[in-house]
Amino acid sequence: MALKTKTIAAHTLGCKVNQLETESLLEVFRTAGYRVVNFDTPADIYLINTCTITHLGDRKSRQMIRRAQRCNPEAMIVVTGCYAQRSPEAVQKIPGVSLIWGNQDRAEIVNWVEQLFAQKSANLQVEDQTEVGLEALIRVKDIRQAQVFEELPLALERDRTRALVKVEDGCSQFCSYCIVPYTRGPVRSRPAERVVEEIIRLVEAGYQEVVLTGIHTSAYGKEWRYGGDTPNLATLIQKILEAVPALPRLRISSIEPTEMPERLLEIMSQSKVICRHLHIPLQSGDDEILRQMRRPYTTAQYAALIQRLRRKISGVAVTTDIMVGFPGETEQHFNRSFNFIYELGFSDLHVFKYSPRQGTLAAALPNQVAAPDKEARSQQLIALAHDLRQRFAASFVGQTLEVLLEEETTIPKESNWLPERDMKTAFWGGYTDNYIRVAVPVVEKARLSGRFVPVLLVDSQADLVLGKII
Ligand code: 5AD
Ligand code: SF4
Repeated sequence: MALKTKTIAAHTLGCKVNQLETESLLEVFRTAGYRVVNFDTPADIYLINTCTITHLGDRKSRQMIRRAQRCNPEAMIVVTGCYAQRSPEAVQKIPGVSLIWGNQDRAEIVNWVEQLFAQKSANLQVEDQTEVGLEALIRVKDIRQAQVFEELPLALERDRTRALVKVEDGCSQFCSYCIVPYTRGPVRSRPAERVVEEIIRLVEAGYQEVVLTGIHTSAYGKEWRYGGDTPNLATLIQKILEAVPALPRLRISSIEPTEMPERLLEIMSQSKVICRHLHIPLQSGDDEILRQMRRPYTTAQYAALIQRLRRKISGVAVTTDIMVGFPGETEQHFNRSFNFIYELGFSDLHVFKYSPRQGTLAAALPNQVAAPDKEARSQQLIALAHDLRQRFAASFVGQTLEVLLEEETTIPKESNWLPERDMKTAFWGGYTDNYIRVAVPVVEKARLSGRFVPVLLVDSQADLVLGKII
């Protein structure tokens, strides 16, 4: 009798790196003969890749595990990622979980799943069903001992427009609020040859844009620094540009303000391939709070960096992360921070409410900020982010920029971009290199994902810009 193909469904919480790793793990399962299905259909296995950056990450991770259990109470539930790494015992208490896996050796998960299935069917042959209510197996190693970057297989998607490429894992910076160094371990960089090979495969498969990502991407090569001409993010990028001339667009996901070497600025200002977009986490625009956060720069240094960037790379989009409600943050600190952000004029903000993470320095600090104050400050910054996005987008109206089209999109109802009773026009959405979201009307039905088009930006509405292909 032929064995029925087992099915697997996955859900990711948290960051881009997690999303990428989930795709890679599904690829491992696919190669082993499993079929990937939607999370809401009953599957034989559920893989939940968790997050613990804030208490919300923990909560959503637990909710997802319970949802998997409801979808199919008989399923094998596998929990991996940062929440599993940090709190395996808490995960073990959730009913239905079979396997808890940390952030290492993940390509092996599939072997353990197979063993568990084999065990399960052997036990079912036996009268004594002692496996009922069996505790989940914990496979979590001490991540501080991790020393090398772990390779996982590449997963190719159906819509091949933009691909993430992981170049680094871990963080050794230990900002006082952050749990990441404990869940991801120290910086481990991926050898440049592997990165280049992967990008060549992606370009051959039709991808038009590659985003270099990591947990602390700009620390690339740190652990290899033994003097002389050692690798860093700038040398990696240079290698990529030289080795893959057919790559149309390269984006850098996030860069720390103290890790922006002159050489990288030079490469960026000379290259048409590197996108004029940098995400540079600021966290707070107040010097006292930055010190308490153990961030290694002042607001003046940060502002000088942004000014230097803007002088060198015209039209550059600078986005950032801001945290509100760090312990001891008073209204004065917050107002100073708000004004600093307003004056620097980012293109977008990602706003986080501080969440104490046990085991970090900040969790033990006095003067924790009350939840309603965090909420009010976060709302103020979210409103500011909206204005900043709009201001940035509007400043490009009248210019012609290359847009990489991704998918069909809807336009704001209140816009007058669609002539009345015109049912034939569809809008396609995409991004400029400096991360302005553009919608272009297209009359004939066509699949345009992955196409570059020169677009005249004609109007902006909220943070979407109407463009005309020229
Ligand atoms: N509470 C809230 N936000 C946090 N971040 C990191 N740790 C915490 C925390 N304890 C935010 C930071 C970081 C982003 C990825 O997550 O702003 O840049
Ligand atoms: Fe966390 Fe700071 Fe490392 Fe970013 S740089 S992951 S905020 S410790």
